[in-house]
Amino acid sequence: MALSRSSKLALSFIFFSCFSPVIPSLASSDDFLQCLSETMPNNLVFTQSSPSFTSILVSSIRNPKFFTPTTVRPLCIVTPTNASHVQAAVICGRRHGVRLRVRSGGHDYEGLSYRSERAEEVFAVVDLASLRSVSIDAATDTAWVDSGATIGELYYAIAKASGDRLAFPAGLCPTIGVGGHLSGGGMGMLLRKYGLAIDNVIDAKMVDAEGRILDKSSMGSDVFWAIRGGGVGGSFGIVLSWQVKLVPVPPTVATFSVRKSAAEGAAGILAKWQELGDLLPEELFIRVLVQKQGANFQSLYLGTCAELLPVMRAAFPELGVNATHCKEMTWVQSVPYIYLGATATAEDLLNRTTSLDTFSKATSDYVRQPIPEAVWAEIFTAWLAKPESGLMILDPFGGATGRVPECSTPFPHRGGVLYNIQYMNFWGKDGGGTAQVKWIKEFYAFMEPYVSKDPREAYVNYRDLDLGQNVVLGDGDDGVTSYEDGKVWGEKYYKGNFERLAMAKAEIDPDDYFRNEQSIPPLICEKKQTLRKAAHGHAQTV
Ligand SMILES: Cc1cc2nc3c(=O)[nH]c(=O)nc-3n(C[C@H](O)[C@H](O)[C@H](O)COP(=O)(O)OP(=O)(O)OC[C@H]3O[C@@H](n4cnc5c(N)ncnc54)[C@H](O)[C@@H]3O)c2cc1C
Ligand SMILES: *[C@@H]1O[C@H](CO)[C@@H](O)[C@H](O)[C@H]1NC(C)=O
Ligand SMILES: *[C@@H]1O[C@H](CO)[C@@H](O)[C@H](O)[C@H]1NC(C)=O
Ligand SMILES: *[C@@H]1O[C@H](CO)[C@@H](O)[C@H](O)[C@H]1NC(C)=O
Repeated sequence: MALSRSSKLALSFIFFSCFSPVIPSLASSDDFLQCLSETMPNNLVFTQSSPSFTSILVSSIRNPKFFTPTTVRPLCIVTPTNASHVQAAVICGRRHGVRLRVRSGGHDYEGLSYRSERAEEVFAVVDLASLRSVSIDAATDTAWVDSGATIGELYYAIAKASGDRLAFPAGLCPTIGVGGHLSGGGMGMLLRKYGLAIDNVIDAKMVDAEGRILDKSSMGSDVFWAIRGGGVGGSFGIVLSWQVKLVPVPPTVATFSVRKSAAEGAAGILAKWQELGDLLPEELFIRVLVQKQGANFQSLYLGTCAELLPVMRAAFPELGVNATHCKEMTWVQSVPYIYLGATATAEDLLNRTTSLDTFSKATSDYVRQPIPEAVWAEIFTAWLAKPESGLMILDPFGGATGRVPECSTPFPHRGGVLYNIQYMNFWGKDGGGTAQVKWIKEFYAFMEPYVSKDPREAYVNYRDLDLGQNVVLGDGDDGVTSYEDGKVWGEKYYKGNFERLAMAKAEIDPDDYFRNEQSIPPLICEKKQTLRKAAHGHAQTV
């Protein structure tokens, strides 16, 4: 099949798909593969028997926990090089009852972009790694970035094109994929000054469950609201690219990293750090890595050391930051410097390779009331002294992120949030894991009185299936996921916005084609659901 005909074919499939059953009860894998082979170049489809299947599958897996002999693998991996291939995958998938999982950077904490919890699920992976262009419009300070780019590639391109004048407020780890990151929020060191990544998204191109390419105006305001933080991941469609607003940064930024041990009073210094909030300028972000018997305070300041030091002396003298600790560099250098270490360079932002040696488990909390110093002391003595203990990463909120109203985007952790806690634990190839996972669960239970309540909030990008999983109602694969059951985890991630997300889902994908263990369930009123079942009754008797 010649490539040039593929988009014409894709269009005719869109037409026919209106008349085909929603999702046949029995997936027809052979017909699906046949359909793909007719609509896109064969060398972009890797079945389990292709020699490169495993290397493509593993290429962006970040947690080896989901690369074992028992991990449920996709029927095939589709690696689109053109939007029309993404459309074709959706159209073939719907016709032949094969669901899709979308992968951009593969950093999902539960591996939902490339594996399933259910052994019987037949699914294909659409891996967007080849759709990764970044185009900067320096005249309007905006950019279009494809989902398959990493945030490191985005940062590098922005700095190059703007001569270090512009930046983008998103996460710290350069290998994170733009696709997953922007769909769940995107917290990074510029969040106090400029908000989250989603607060700076101005348009997007998305392939919906009918295989259409929609933008901000054609998808409608409810869906455009939903994809900016609603964990679009497997819920609303496949986002091909995002238009983002770039933000100004000074040519020189300052950073310091200061560790205080428990013996040096880390508990008291942490207690003070929690309450700095508005005492610090929004140009200053200080995160804390709490591990073993110490707390490491790492900062980014949009200004020089000469400006930063007096601010630190006045607001946070307990930390004892002085000129020796402070380093100046460009913003684009600060990301690898802080995340990868002092010898890393801006070019390291382009390195997509990471090691597959570290197994991990994570979960999260938001803190709205300062945690007493005595509790911090107990955290050091009772929890971080254990040999199997892990890490807490504390990201301060406030500033621009806190000013956005709770319902303006699906991300509800806004005004009143002091900081986010990410709990992580690690183990290696040589086994282990049981003690580390037990530690994280027990520590999470211990923290309950000190963190947000009703609901206990969690960050969707730090996905944790232990918070709850979807329940499919009705006829097996033809059923839809239950809204009531989804509330268990959904209200932790989205609070009151969960209902509106479920309504947006019903608008764009009422048949629940895009779904996974934690996708947004469609909220369909009873009558509509009965009608829909009647219309497709023949498909469900198979
Ligand atoms: C080492 C590490 C560091 C991290 N640091 C930060 C940080 O500093 N700040 C922060 O906010 N988060 C951070 N995260 C979390 C990160 O933001 C999320 O894991 C994010 O979802 C990863 O995006 P991805 O594209 O790499 O993941 P993927 O695994 O590819 O996708 C994640 C989810 O989104 C879906 N998805 C992916 N692409 C698309 C698309 N184009 N359209 C629709 N759905 C899609 C997937 O199906 C999956 O459900 C970190 C994660 C790791 C592993
Ligand atoms: C995708 O295909 C269409 C139609 O064949 C073409 O116009 C477009 O330039 C292609 N895009 C890319 C990124 O190759
Ligand atoms: C900065 O503080 C450290 C202790 O944290 C100290 O060793 C160093 O001498 C100080 N440097 C200056 C220039 O005061
Ligand atoms: C890319 O990163 C990997 C993992 O950290 C490292 O082993 C490799 O040397 C890096 N490659 C380059 C070209 O720097």
